[in-house]
Order: sequence, then structure tokens, then C-alpha cells
Amino acid sequence: MGTSTSPLSCFPVLLLLFLAAAIPWPRLAHAAGVGGGKWDLLKHSIGISAMHMQLLHNDRVVIFDRTDFGRSMLALPHGKCRHDPKDFVLQVDCTAHSAEYDVSSNSIRPLMVQTDVWCSSGSVSPDGRLIQTGGSNDGERSVRIFAPCNGCDWEENSSGLLVPRWYATNQILPDGRSIIIGGRNQFNYEFYPKSSSTDTLFDLPFLSQTNDPNVENNLYPFVHLNVDGNLFIFANNRAILLDYTRNVVVKRFPKMPDGHARCYPSTGSSVLLPLKKLKRPSVEAEVLICGGAPKGSYFQAIRGSFVGALSTCGRIKITDESPAWSMETMPLARVMGDMILLPDGQVLMINGAKSGVAGWELGRNPELYPVIYRPNSPSGSRFHVQNPTTIPRMYHSSALLLRDGRVLVGGSNPHEFYNFTGVLYPTELSLEAFSPGYLDPGVSHLRPEIISPPSQTKLKYGQSITVRFSLSGELSSKGVSVTMVAPSFTTHSFAMNQRLLELDGRQVKPVSKSVYDVQVTIPESGFLAPSGYYLLFVVHTEVPSEGIWVHIK
Ligand SMILES: *[C@@H]1O[C@H](CO)[C@@H](O)[C@H](O)[C@H]1NC(C)=O
Ligand SMILES: *[C@@H]1O[C@H](CO)[C@@H](O)[C@H](O)[C@H]1NC(C)=O
Repeated sequence: MGTSTSPLSCFPVLLLLFLAAAIPWPRLAHAAGVGGGKWDLLKHSIGISAMHMQLLHNDRVVIFDRTDFGRSMLALPHGKCRHDPKDFVLQVDCTAHSAEYDVSSNSIRPLMVQTDVWCSSGSVSPDGRLIQTGGSNDGERSVRIFAPCNGCDWEENSSGLLVPRWYATNQILPDGRSIIIGGRNQFNYEFYPKSSSTDTLFDLPFLSQTNDPNVENNLYPFVHLNVDGNLFIFANNRAILLDYTRNVVVKRFPKMPDGHARCYPSTGSSVLLPLKKLKRPSVEAEVLICGGAPKGSYFQAIRGSFVGALSTCGRIKITDESPAWSMETMPLARVMGDMILLPDGQVLMINGAKSGVAGWELGRNPELYPVIYRPNSPSGSRFHVQNPTTIPRMYHSSALLLRDGRVLVGGSNPHEFYNFTGVLYPTELSLEAFSPGYLDPGVSHLRPEIISPPSQTKLKYGQSITVRFSLSGELSSKGVSVTMVAPSFTTHSFAMNQRLLELDGRQVKPVSKSVYDVQVTIPESGFLAPSGYYLLFVVHTEVPSEGIWVHIK
């Protein structure tokens, strides 16, 4: 950020203080290094454990855990019960294992899933329905659809997938279909919905090549839609670029230099960093993968020895001719963390543990401190430790971005059942919100408020739009951008389909006192932004407005 290259330690303390006082304070808050952000307990209990979460465009979050670990603390409505002769634990269960959380009223509505959704995957279709796939036991081939409407519930097809998918990853594609990749003992992919030409399985030998015979380490692969339409797929410690339309690997990326596995159960996390300068063909895309567990950690953990988590991240420009990993070190080691893109383009690392691996009883030492990673800061000043929570969020916890800029945090259940007492890290039924520093009342004078377009506006690829916003304080000359975020399906430390685009064109025109227009262009293609619902934010000097929902087609 600063232009000086002198090490800070050379500065006399007084001079430092003077410099600090001269820097406008929001920047100072970022530069301070430790602290920032605020935690709120939203609900002591929602009755189920938030293992999987997806925000839909009605500002409600679909949440589910599993059907096969006994009674939850949330009753199904109207005396309904699930009758499932195939369930391993309860063949008649009158409790819910899925729920809809309404953000504005902070309330929960129980939902009914019929088959086991444990360790499954999902995407949101262009029309805004959650398409969830797979799971365990009798749910391993299910496709379940949840439409965002009042009083709606899950609709299931228990033979919707060609093969069982447990620990698979989904990505929404530019043509609106979902691709479902891998899962335990599945070295292949398939699509939903199917057409006559794609009504079949496609082999993906990369998944067997990365399937370490001792520990799988390639489950829940990290998948990102690249700006050229190909899929970046990372499993274990390396990645490919897949042209799924021809089933051809078009690029093999080098192994991450330290060679450690980053996928389940050595669970790290991965994000596609914000995409900007969206005029093709020059768009660049970078992936950041952080944390995980060193080689051998799984075997140590099952013998009761919990190895310290990885503190390294690898960052790679996947659009480069010859891409290379650049390694960075986090201030805190983390396994089973989540990485969530914030509307201002920063990356929040949250949840997880300091040692062990993913799996029943295999994690130790919760990492209570989130960290913000600033991708555009110079290397060496990108990581900023935030204020801690008090609630461990171990295996089976999750996080996602809400429209108001807060991050919803829930789940944590490292046990085979709902266990609330007599165990390390009891099953967590609570929901918390982490409010990054940009929500501090102290910066409210910098916070834009979007006046138009209205929420739920329908937009077309390449369309130019004017976003009108107001500001209570003064406009900073260079500090306005407009970002668009695709909400994620988050589970097992990976936020599927998460994507942030910084829109082109940011010239700001004053309209009247405290009101401004900024004109921006919606991305040109579904390669950059698959059709569907996005959250759109105006960001002023790193402080985002509340988002509005827009639909892109
Ligand atoms: C369930 O999905 C399968 C595979 O796509 C399809 O053939 C079948 O018709 C579907 N069943 C229902 C009831 O929709
Ligand atoms: C966890 O819950 C299960 C099911 O209720 C119970 O059988 C088991 O004893 C519990 N474990 C502990 C350590 O309390």
C-alpha cells in the first residue's frame, strides 16, 4: 500500500505514529494487523448442525446436516415424520435435518429431506433453484431441488445421478447445467440435467491419479470455472485444466511446491480470486489455496497424535502460459478453514483447527481467529488477523456471505452422532455472524447505499447499467468500484461456485447532494459469470454497500 520500501523497523516510533495519524483511518484499521471485525451470536440453536449451507435470492439460507445420526433438536411441522426403512439409525424420525434460515427475521423453518444428504454437493441453477446432489446411503444418487418460494420444500429424485456421489464437487456451467465431479471411488463426472449427448459418465483419470492409495486426499476437489470456459480442478496436491465439453485435459499445472495434500481429509480451502478487467481475451484468473494438513497427518491423527496444520498458501495465475505457484505463509496455521470472498474483494479465512485432519474426532485446537487476506497488497502485508470468536468450528462447520456483508457461520460436529456432552467440541447447533471491519459504525459515513436499480433486476450479458447510490459523507475521488458475487454452496471448507467480479467502468458522476451515479458493464459471457443470481455491491474506499440481487442472462 505505502510507497516506501524501507523496513518498518527502521522508522523511529514517533515518526510511525505521525504517519499513522496522517493516513485516513479506514486504511489504518486495515494496516493495524491484528484485530478488526465483530462477532454476534444470531441463534443459540437452530436445532440442526449447519454442515451444508446455500444462500438463495430470497435472502434465506438452506441448511442441512444428515439424516442418519439420530434425532435433531428441530421437530418436523404438523406431526410429520420421515419413514425410511433404509436409514441406519432411525427408521422413523419426526425431526428435521434441513431448515430454511430467514436472514431478516432471524428465524428457522424446518424442511423435510427424504434421503441421506450427508457430505453432498450443490449449485444454484440459473432460475435460482438449489440443485443438490448425492449424499450417503439411500441418498447417494439423489438429486434434490429446492425452489426459493414461501412454504416450499425439497423435491427429490433418488435415481437422479448415474452413480453414487459422496464428497463430490459441483460447478454451475456457462450453459446453466451443473457438472458433478468425483466423489468417493468415482473417478468421473456427469451433468445435471442430462441431454441425449451427455446422458452418460465421463472418465476423469486425474481423480484416480490423485487418489493416494492410503488416504484418499482427493475428495471434494477444488473446482473453479476458468475465464476460458475450462474447469480448474485441484485434487490432493495438483491441478488440471479440463475442457469438459471434449473430456480433454488441456493443461497440467505443476504440483504445489511443498507437495502436501490440500483436499479432504487434509482439508485446506480454495478460492478463485476476484476477476477484474473483464474485457476478454485479456482477463486473468488466479486461484489461492490455503491451509490443510501435512503429509501423514491422517495416520497420526487416527493414532491419537495431532500434527500441526499447514500455514502455507499457494497462489497461481491459471491463465498464464506457464503457470507457477507462488507460496505465502499465513500468520496462523489452519486445517478445515473456510475461505469466503468479501464484497470488497478481500478473502476471509475463518473456522477450522490448528491441528489434526477432517473426520470423526480427528481435529484439535480450534482456530478461533479469522484472517483477512488482501490479494492486491504487496506480498508480506496481505494477511490481517481479526477478532476471535468463542465457539470452535471444527469438522462439519460452514460459512457464507450474506447480502448485508456479514458472514454467516454455523455447524461443527466432529462426532458420529449429535453429541452435546461428554465430548471434545460438542455438536454445534448455533449460528453466528462475523461482521468485517467495513461494517463498523465508525465507517458508516463511507458506506454507500444503493438507490437503483432495484433488487431482483434482470440484466443481460454485456449490458451497461447505471447504479445510483447515496453517501452520507464525502466521496473519495478514486474509491468507487462495483462488484458482483455469486453466492456459494458451502460445505467441508469449500465454497462451490463462489465467484467475485469487479465490473468494468467506474466513473462516478454526482447527481445531487450526496447522490452519485456510476456506470458499469455487466460481463460479456457466461464463461466469466454463469447465468443466474448475483449480489451486486457498490464499494467506496473499501466499504461495501448492502448488496442487491441481480439476475444475469
Ligand atoms: C429421476 O431421474 C432420472 C435420471 O435423470 C430420470 O430418468 C427419471 O425420470 C427421474 N424421475 C422422476 C420421477 O423425475
Ligand atoms: C453420542 O451420541 C450417541 C447417540 O445418542 C450415543 O450413543 C453415544 O454414547 C454418545 N457419545 C458420547 C461420548 O456421549
